[in-house]
Formats: sequence, C-alpha cells, structure tokens
Amino acid sequence: MGLGRALAESLVRRGARVVMAARSADLLRAVADDLIAHGAKPESVLPFPADVTIAEDRADLLAYAAEHFDGALDLVINNAGIGAYGRFESHNETIARKVFEINVFALMEMCRSVLPMLRKGQDPAVCNIGSIVARRGLPGRSAYSASKFAVAGFTESIRAEWAIDGIDVLLLNPGFTQTEFEKNLVVDTAVYKTDHRRTMTPEAVAKKTLRALETRKKEVTLSRPGRLLILTNRLAPRFVDWGLGRWTKRLYNDKESLEKVEHPKD
Ligand SMILES: NC(=O)c1ccc[n+]([C@@H]2O[C@H](COP(=O)([O-])OP(=O)(O)OC[C@H]3O[C@@H](n4cnc5c(N)ncnc54)[C@H](OP(=O)(O)O)[C@@H]3O)[C@@H](O)[C@H]2O)c1
Repeated sequence: MGLGRALAESLVRRGARVVMAARSADLLRAVADDLIAHGAKPESVLPFPADVTIAEDRADLLAYAAEHFDGALDLVINNAGIGAYGRFESHNETIARKVFEINVFALMEMCRSVLPMLRKGQDPAVCNIGSIVARRGLPGRSAYSASKFAVAGFTESIRAEWAIDGIDVLLLNPGFTQTEFEKNLVVDTAVYKTDHRRTMTPEAVAKKTLRALETRKKEVTLSRPGRLLILTNRLAPRFVDWGLGRWTKRLYNDKESLEKVEHPKD
C-alpha cells in the first residue's frame, strides 16, 4: 500500500470527501472500490487519473475537484514522489530531471493552482511530503535528496507567504515506510539496499500526518533514527560528513561488485 492510499483511507474514515490522483487509472479505481467495499460512501471517494507533471492533467484535476467541492478545498496533500538510488556518477541528467519534474516542479505547480481554491476552504491546509533527506543529503540518493531539499525550501517559503491567507503549510518527513517506493524508483544502481529497513507502516504515517495537521504543526519528522540524524547533523555536520564518508568508502571499496551493479551487461 502506498502512502497516498493510506492517507485517503484515513481521511475518508474521518468523514472527508477525497479526490485521489495518480497515473494508473486501474489502480486508482481498485483503491476506490476497495475503500467503498470497506464502508466508504461512493460520493466520498473520487479517483481521478492524472499525471501531475502534465499541466493539462493538473488543470483537469483541479476542474474536477472544483466541480465536486464547489470551488473550495480544505486540504491538499502533495504526495506524488519518486526516487533514484545509486551513485551520482552512475546516473545522468535525464534521471535527475525526472526526479525533479515529479518531486519538485509538479508539487510547486500544484500549489500554485490550488491556492485560489484553498483561500475559499475551511481552515485550509497544504501538506507537502518531504523526507529525512529533505534535511540531510545521503550518499546514493543525490537527486532524491536534492529534490526533497527543494521541497523543504519551497514549503518554508510558501508557509510564510500563505500565512496571510490563514493557510497552514506542513512539511511531513516520513522515514523508511513499507510502500512500493523502492520498486518504483527511476533507477536503482545502489550497492546498499534499504528495503529491509522499512519498518513504518503507511497507516501509521497517515495517522501521524493527520495528527500533525490537526495540531497545526509546521514540520514533522516521523522516524526516530531520522530525527537523530537531522539533530546530529544540525549540531555536528562535520561529524556526520565524516561518518557518511567512511561508510561510503567501505561500501564502495569492492570495485568488482560496483562494476556489476553500475554497468550491468544486459
Ligand atoms: N516510502 C518511504 O520510505 C518514503 C520515505 C520518505 C518519503 N517518502 C515520500 O512519500 C511519498 C509517497 O511515496 P510512497 O512511499 O507511497 O511510494 P509509492 O508507493 O511509489 O507511491 C508513489 C505514488 O505517487 C504516484 N505518482 C508518481 N508519479 C506520479 C505522477 N507523475 N503523477 C501522479 N501521481 C504520481 C504513484 O502513482 P502512479 O505511479 O500510478 O502515478 C503512487 O501513487 C513520496 O513523495 C515519497 O518521496 C516515502
């Protein structure tokens, strides 16, 4: 289950009416049907297939939401995101641009387009999904870290701007969560795999996200190791640089396996 589905489920359970967007129309329909089979009212679950990197799709999505919610939105969650794992030198410009198109530019343009509808909403809020790497870049995650840093910076900027309109802006930084994220990577040439470290459930992340929104938090980092890393990095950035450098050196010391991963024969 993805984080988007868990968030939609939690919101619907609390009585919200939700428009859910993703590219895969079949998957979206299946999620909606499943929610309805588990007690959600059909009029509360509104799937709309859209690629948020395409301006026309965003406009159609917004028009659909406006039609169903009388032109007003109370909450927008920018959840769509994608990663790319592996050393920077094993990737290329196309990969970096793809990551930024989805994680950064689509999110920014969604925020631009929803603003008029949020202004008409009740206690309106936006939640942008960041990451631990939004606050500390990690080796093997260069484009992803850079994109989430951009999300963090953008979120802080609009938080100040949108305070004038009484719109809350939350940056939510999940830790390793049990979703399909690692299967959907643009590319994975990383030597170090992290799937086994996904200990948090999407349901737990969704619950904490809604709690953060209710208590009007500005930024929430959900995993304990993530919070520790960010705090240590704030207090002793050179120590974290040194530790990550040593770890990376050890990891990439085996040149033979590195060749195999980064330059597969087929
Ligand atoms: N899982 C983690 O450990 C973790 C940790 C920190 C942060 N996050 C962040 O959490 C968010 C959700 O990720 P997840 O873990 O739930 O991964 P996921 O299972 O891969 O879900 C990603 C979602 O984004 C949608 N999406 C991707 N590109 C899209 C596009 N161009 N237009 C519309 N929808 C698009 C996907 O649907 P379609 O493919 O059908 O479009 C899918 O529903 C991301 O922003 C991710 O960076 C995840």
